[in-house]
Amino acid sequence: MKAMICTMSLGMLLAAAIPAVAADDAAALYKSKCQVCHGADGKGTAAGQKMGAKDFQSPEVAKQSDAELAKATKEGKGKMPKYDGKLTKEQIDSVVQFIRTLKK
Ligand code: HEC
Repeated sequence: MKAMICTMSLGMLLAAAIPAVAADDAAALYKSKCQVCHGADGKGTAAGQKMGAKDFQSPEVAKQSDAELAKATKEGKGKMPKYDGKLTKEQIDSVVQFIRTLKK
């Protein structure tokens, strides 16, 4: 019985820990690859805005689906570099989720 409770709490611990790790990874990824143009808050740095980067919080970006944002990241858009082959699909998906959290 004791062992069962142990296993269960371990499982719960793991389940709680995994998404937190993924979120950390996305934040680190964003910081190292995207922040230079998009800024820490997603509004775009001066250089990014000059290239045409839009505020991630703007309605134009917010109304796009996750798939559209993932596609822009994968294939590039305007002056935005493409990340196909540089980031995995999972990394792109998690960084798109991260962009959404910048809204707040
Ligand atoms: C060299 C500067 C630069 C870097 C680095 C960069 N971006 Fe961009 N990004 C842009 C520009 C400029 C646009 C606007 C493209 C357009 O609409 O012409 C853009 C657009 C986007 C869009 C589409 C939103 C829209 O305006 O419709 C997404 C999503 C995006 N970037 C995500 C990312 C992610 C994720 C990273 C990091 C992995 C990243 N970008 C790195 C410059 C950059």
